[in-house]
Amino acid sequence: MGHILFIPGSLVAMLVLFLAQEGITAQASPCREDCTNVKCPTYCSCTDTSVSCHDRSLAYIPLIPCGIQSLNLYNCRIWRLNVEEISNLTCSFETLTVLNLTECKIEQIEEDVFINLTHLEVVDLSSNKIKTQSIQRALGSLNGAPVHTLKLDHLWTDKEKVREILKYFSGRHLIYLSMRENQIIEFEDKVLENFTKLVHLDLHRNWINKINLSSGIETLELFNLSHNQINIFPPVFCDTQTGKTRYKKLKHLDLSWNQIIVPSSPFWNCLTTLDSFNLSTNDMEDIANDSFTNLTSLRTLILSEMRTTLRRIRNEAIKIDSLQHLDLSGNGLDFDEEKEVANDIFNYLPSLTSLDVSDNYFGSVGTRKLTNLSHLDTLIMRHVSLSQLADGFLQHFPNLTYLDLHNNKIEQFSAVAFQNVTKLKFLNLSKNLISNFPAPPFPSATLKSLETFDFAYNYFQCDCEIVKLQKWINDVLSDPDKRNLLSRYPVDYWCYNPKYLYQVLLKDAKPDHCTDSKYQVVLSIVIPVIICLVFTVVIVVAYVYRWEIKFLLHKMRKKRRDRYQRLPSSFVYSTYVAYAEKDSAWVIHDLLKELEEDRHNVYIRDRYSVPGVARCDEIVDNIYKSKTVILVLSKNFMGCQWCNYQLNVAQARAVELGQHFIIPVLLEGIPTDHMKISVQHLFRTLRPIEWARQSTKNRLFWSELKGALDAEMNVFDNDGYQSLNT
Ligand SMILES: *[C@@H]1O[C@H](CO)[C@@H](O)[C@H](O)[C@H]1NC(C)=O
Ligand SMILES: *[C@@H]1O[C@H](CO)[C@@H](O)[C@H](O)[C@H]1NC(C)=O
Ligand SMILES: *[C@@H]1O[C@H](CO)[C@@H](O)[C@H](O)[C@H]1NC(C)=O
Ligand SMILES: *[C@@H]1O[C@H](CO)[C@@H](O)[C@H](O)[C@H]1NC(C)=O
Ligand SMILES: *[C@@H]1O[C@H](CO)[C@@H](O)[C@H](O)[C@H]1NC(C)=O
Ligand SMILES: *[C@@H]1O[C@H](CO)[C@@H](O)[C@H](O)[C@H]1NC(C)=O
Ligand SMILES: *[C@@H]1O[C@H](CO)[C@@H](O)[C@H](O)[C@H]1NC(C)=O
Ligand SMILES: *[C@@H]1O[C@H](CO)[C@@H](O)[C@H](O)[C@H]1NC(C)=O
Ligand SMILES: *[C@@H]1O[C@H](CO)[C@@H](O)[C@H](O)[C@H]1NC(C)=O
Ligand SMILES: *[C@@H]1O[C@H](CO)[C@@H](O)[C@H](O)[C@H]1NC(C)=O
Ligand SMILES: *[C@@H]1O[C@H](CO)[C@@H](O)[C@H](O)[C@H]1NC(C)=O
Ligand SMILES: *[C@@H]1O[C@H](CO)[C@@H](O)[C@H](O)[C@H]1NC(C)=O
Repeated sequence: MGHILFIPGSLVAMLVLFLAQEGITAQASPCREDCTNVKCPTYCSCTDTSVSCHDRSLAYIPLIPCGIQSLNLYNCRIWRLNVEEISNLTCSFETLTVLNLTECKIEQIEEDVFINLTHLEVVDLSSNKIKTQSIQRALGSLNGAPVHTLKLDHLWTDKEKVREILKYFSGRHLIYLSMRENQIIEFEDKVLENFTKLVHLDLHRNWINKINLSSGIETLELFNLSHNQINIFPPVFCDTQTGKTRYKKLKHLDLSWNQIIVPSSPFWNCLTTLDSFNLSTNDMEDIANDSFTNLTSLRTLILSEMRTTLRRIRNEAIKIDSLQHLDLSGNGLDFDEEKEVANDIFNYLPSLTSLDVSDNYFGSVGTRKLTNLSHLDTLIMRHVSLSQLADGFLQHFPNLTYLDLHNNKIEQFSAVAFQNVTKLKFLNLSKNLISNFPAPPFPSATLKSLETFDFAYNYFQCDCEIVKLQKWINDVLSDPDKRNLLSRYPVDYWCYNPKYLYQVLLKDAKPDHCTDSKYQVVLSIVIPVIICLVFTVVIVVAYVYRWEIKFLLHKMRKKRRDRYQRLPSSFVYSTYVAYAEKDSAWVIHDLLKELEEDRHNVYIRDRYSVPGVARCDEIVDNIYKSKTVILVLSKNFMGCQWCNYQLNVAQARAVELGQHFIIPVLLEGIPTDHMKISVQHLFRTLRPIEWARQSTKNRLFWSELKGALDAEMNVFDNDGYQSLNT
């Protein structure tokens, strides 16, 4: 008997210790005599205080030993949870604090079923299909226990009101309540008026569109209303008369993934304790002045992913002294334009340290708007069409540690851009258009602080100069502190040019015909001397034969005009690809890849489409910016209205530029009766280039297509006049 008493004794001691650590309280009573022989159930894994029958598909609640505090039956098959089932828990009635019955296929729960489990603190009934009436009483039977965490996610599918579900549950001790994924349509916080300790309320992914928050939950700190259907206006947190709120402690508010159109500040500007506010993925159009004033504790604001609706951010829209993190990514806004993003929107953010503006458009002068943000330590500008990294730009951010410029259009930069940049730890310049990397890319003071540098997927020009970059890389990597500096090196760093080194790893590139430096010094003296000599001779000859030359020039004047007076090209793309959405896989994976390898600048909607620009304008605009139009003809093309529109625009343009402007590509045979008249007409005047899957014919296809493109490149000058070259 002595040792039997001893075991529970030490168990109690451990229990108390464990509970003290967890900050929760429970009293354990000694093990009943009929329980002392109960062992860990087969198929379950046990410790002294927990039993987990996780994923065992048990059809009953197993008999569990004494002193168990936590029972997890995830994925069991208990259709009816009743007093008899629960009786197998009898040995631990007094100690059980965590009961997890998620995904147990429970449909019926008997009322009062939890009445003997007087120490429950955490109850998870998520992912069952319990009928409302039966759950009401069952939750009521938890009233005697100090339940602080209750999870009722994905539980009821009939559109029951929260009021019904919680009808008999007092919630006196509840700190955390989660009712996600339940198709709740209406929510009134009055239902929770007696939940006087509630801190965390999760209503994520319901269908809430009617919400009344007039009662307030004074203790609430986190309110998650993400993924609901809150429409047009945000929920009203502030009393419309007094401007006060009963949400006196709210710190984190998540309203992302709703359909809020008007960021109506009077509804939320009383939330002076708010720390993070997520409004991502709503339908806002215009963020007006003072939308966030009086949110005096706000540190994180997320206004991202509204590219289909957001048109404008006004100058004093985001005026928050305390704000540290701002996310404006994914809005497709044109920062070059004052009309879309006011010039001084960042002038009222004196504490901002982290900014994400990815997936917008910055063009050439958009970055000016950032220059007052001198406290930034993190700047994320992925995919913003940045065309240059100006020398002075980074000087504005002396404390910058994280800079991400992935996927932009930077063609070159100089090491000067990084002068005085001495705190940078992370730098991403991958997927830009840089061909000549300076070596070293930045001063040694920058290198000293840098921990990660990514410049993969650039257009490396592997000529003689590249040797310097290779040497710099090798030197850096030989430093034990910098061994892991370059991410994705060497596998994702390839040469792009010259042709014979195309796709050779940068690391392995050995350009031909590189002279050594001594030779270069000699050359650098000899060549100017030769040039000088030749120049002198030419001048002398020209003077002697001046009249003959004048006559010749006169004769050639007309020819010359045609041949040389080309205006600088206003074409942006070498070709515009018109295709049906359903053929986009071929266009992107075959066509685009092949043409871009040939350095053609190809316009495809999927890539360049500017959000917000009406489709018609965009099509006309870009066809007029392209030297040719490739029509990807297929059955899909015939069935697509926009394709037809593009065809018409292209034909109108071809009237000015000549039929060769259009390059039809036939992706598959099309029965004549499916063809539109415009296409039939096209086939009469132009022979389409036919695509075939076999590799030999395939090669012919590419060669024909590129031939057509290249011919077109040379035929037209800017105004479409034919030059003498043809
Ligand atoms: C109690 O558990 C035992 C084995 O652990 C099991 O055989 C029995 O069916 C359970 N009783 C009920 C009512 O589920
Ligand atoms: C219940 O168990 C599931 C599966 O292990 C787990 O995802 C869930 O978080 C648990 N619930 C609680 C409240 O710990
Ligand atoms: C509670 O425990 C008592 C005594 O052990 C038992 O008679 C009763 O049936 C139990 N009730 C439930 C709902 O488990
Ligand atoms: C809160 O408690 C009071 C007093 O017990 C009661 O009258 C009221 O109905 C309760 N509110 C809710 C929503 O259950
Ligand atoms: C919100 O609820 C309160 C209290 O339940 C009620 O007085 C008020 O009329 C409700 N407001 C709306 C707009 O339904
Ligand atoms: C709200 O819930 C979603 C889904 O679980 C989660 O991703 C998000 O982080 C939550 N929001 C907050 C503020 O915790
Ligand atoms: C919204 O933003 C908060 C704060 O940054 C974040 O914790 C939360 O995960 C975000 N919500 C979603 C759904 O991503
Ligand atoms: C926003 O504030 C600026 C500066 O105070 C002011 O010039 C502008 O007219 C305001 N715009 C609106 C819509 O109130
Ligand atoms: C901000 O709060 C102050 C004082 O509480 C109030 O006078 C002012 O009108 C509020 N501003 C806005 C834009 O609501
Ligand atoms: C930076 O802030 C100052 C003072 O607020 C202002 O005069 C200046 O125009 C701002 N610069 C930019 C680029 O917005
Ligand atoms: C940069 O950081 C230092 C140290 O944290 C700080 O004292 C200084 O004010 C910061 N400079 C700027 C411009 O934020
Ligand atoms: C770097 O700092 C020095 C001294 O503060 C300054 O003279 C120089 O102009 C700065 N360099 C650049 C590129 O701004």
